[in-house]
Amino acid sequence: MSQSPHIHPYADYLPRAEKEKLLGQRGKVLWFTGLSGSGKSTIARSLERLLHDLKRPSVVLDGDNVRTGINSNLGFSDADRAENIRRVAEVAKLFCQNGLLVLCCFVSPTRALRGLARQIIGEDDYIEIYVQTPLEECEARDVKGLYARARRGEITNFTGISAPFEEPENPHLIIQTLHCSADEAAREVLRFLQPRMELHT
Ligand code: ADX
Repeated sequence: MSQSPHIHPYADYLPRAEKEKLLGQRGKVLWFTGLSGSGKSTIARSLERLLHDLKRPSVVLDGDNVRTGINSNLGFSDADRAENIRRVAEVAKLFCQNGLLVLCCFVSPTRALRGLARQIIGEDDYIEIYVQTPLEECEARDVKGLYARARRGEITNFTGISAPFEEPENPHLIIQTLHCSADEAAREVLRFLQPRMELHT
């Protein structure tokens, strides 16, 4: 599907700076990448609570959740993953441009997919966080039982088993979950985020 030539975006909505001033913060997208079961969502949940307690508005976009709604028509082929990331990056950008802190939890297993997200969201707003949990650990935890099913061949294209995960080359932050709890990880992300979400008046 290609874009209609008869589309004329209206650009005169309230400026981002006014939205950010109202909320007292800068919009940012925190892009959590890592294997299934690495702890992305658990860390995001802790961070969401920390931000909420600091009266900082945030929103979480999570692969398992958006795939039951806006992206329920997508699977895990290369093309579907790209469309998944394209749509959620566009949604994250909208939230971010309205002053929110957006916590995105997507396996986003390739450099190309993360590059697509960064390009859509924009370099200034995109913060990449690699939740680095070894495959053996994710598989041992197997919270959703998916690794066992993937090993049995019941799930195809499963990241880490039958589809690749390319480590991020230059993430802003690496969280090694073997060495810290989700709460500690969330605090580490918050420390990194805090100076970047301050409004410079
Ligand atoms: S992504 O690759 O397109 O970024 P996304 O983060 O949305 O993936 O969804 C990943 C989640 O879907 C995993 O946490 C897991 O629960 C589930 N899942 C189901 N099938 C697969 C698969 N083939 N590969 C990876 N995750 C899968």
